[in-house]
Amino acid sequence: MNELLAKANEHIAATRPLMNMEWYPSWHLAPTAGWMNDPNGLVWYDGMWHAFYQHYPYDAVWGPMHWGHARSRDLIHWEHLPVALAPAGTDDKDGCFSGSAVDNDGELSLIYTGHVHEGDRATDAGLRQVQCLATSRDGVHFTSHGKIIDPPPGIQHFRDPKVWKMGDSWYVVIGLRVDDRGEVRLWRSNDLRAWEPAGLLARSAPGESYMWECPDFFPLGDKWVLLFSPQGMKADGYRNRNLFQSGYLVGSWQPGGEFVIETPFTEIDAGHDFYAPQTMTGPDGRRIMLGWLAMWESIMPEKAHRWAGMLTMPRELTLSADLRIKATPAREIEACRADPHSYQDIRLARDSLPLLTGCEALEVGLSLDLTASDAEKYGLRLGAEQDDEQGLFIYVDNQSRRLVLDRRYPACGISGYRSVPLPDGDTLQLRVFFDRSSVEIFVNDGDISLSSRIYPQAQARHLSLFAQNGGAHFPRVNHWTIR
Ligand code: FRU
Repeated sequence: MNELLAKANEHIAATRPLMNMEWYPSWHLAPTAGWMNDPNGLVWYDGMWHAFYQHYPYDAVWGPMHWGHARSRDLIHWEHLPVALAPAGTDDKDGCFSGSAVDNDGELSLIYTGHVHEGDRATDAGLRQVQCLATSRDGVHFTSHGKIIDPPPGIQHFRDPKVWKMGDSWYVVIGLRVDDRGEVRLWRSNDLRAWEPAGLLARSAPGESYMWECPDFFPLGDKWVLLFSPQGMKADGYRNRNLFQSGYLVGSWQPGGEFVIETPFTEIDAGHDFYAPQTMTGPDGRRIMLGWLAMWESIMPEKAHRWAGMLTMPRELTLSADLRIKATPAREIEACRADPHSYQDIRLARDSLPLLTGCEALEVGLSLDLTASDAEKYGLRLGAEQDDEQGLFIYVDNQSRRLVLDRRYPACGISGYRSVPLPDGDTLQLRVFFDRSSVEIFVNDGDISLSSRIYPQAQARHLSLFAQNGGAHFPRVNHWTIR
């Protein structure tokens, strides 16, 4: 594997100076060069946060999966490390697919899916997936130990192990496709090497979804949450609009028992670009989630710039009394605020108000008065000064009573909107985070989030407030540069 890693790292170093950084994030984690998809192996280890990720270093498209690696002291500023895993062995020769990481008494242990796909890639005939182990003492260089878990008989789609420890036992949840139904099953181990099956955790209703990818299973409040990414769910009105979904079930569980599910499947983000989220905990016990801020088969115009894909900002998860997950921006972001601006009681009547130009790394906090605004649409716009047809529009639609995220980048072939119902209450509180090609909106302290990629040209980074066909009242508007 070492030669393959050296080759990958050299290729990245040679590509990096050739990259166009116009849309490359300034404060989110993105691949040093080439392709990124799922976050993997999120772990607190040796006093730092570590994030690994699905990575193809040789081109800005999906290819034989490597594991990229970065670490951070504050979850916001990431230091890139050498590529950690390359597909090399008999069990993972066509890809080191997604998985997780644990600190096993100082030994950083990666548990991931070894992917082998022989013959015609258009069919599953030659597809084989097993779970593998790699370990490290320095947190940077890994030794492969090969396969540790075989699939149950007859199962081919078997991937994305998420491991955790309880008492003296290790547990893992793994996603399966069984007769075209998504499932998550459990295994148990004493030593991370020898595993025994520990039963079914949950599965799709017949016909609902055919595969459950990237499961994560963790306690939150006094419940357990199964977070996963089902494939094959049909769009349903405003819901499930992306190619694949990510969401959760909440219930009760204890080792050896059944997972008693108490909620319906709920999407965890309502934007265009959010998939395969995973969580980790640190020394203070917070449950931190990151997702892939992209979507399978989306256009990703940054491919032309020799990179593709990025991760979301870190989010802290808590459970509300009605068993919904609240995801709020990790508090570390507040220490990165610079250049504060604050306005009170802005009233617009059928017009717009410029806030700033050159919006790249920015947090905007705003409240919208839902009772004293009669505009048909009012909110925020990011675009060119002379053109109010293109760009990003985040607004309240007063007729449908929804919050809308509408993006229009015709030059990139990107359009379409996502929306969520307006929550109860007289004012709507939004925190909106921008990076060079992303926007993440948090509604009312994390009740709902919307995450999407955006592709503004240099002259289209003007941020303004607007009100269409009526008046709007913004009791408070703040913004900060993110440093
Ligand atoms: C999810 C996924 C995983 C798989 C990985 C391959 O996006 O399809 O199920 O392990 O990506 O890159």
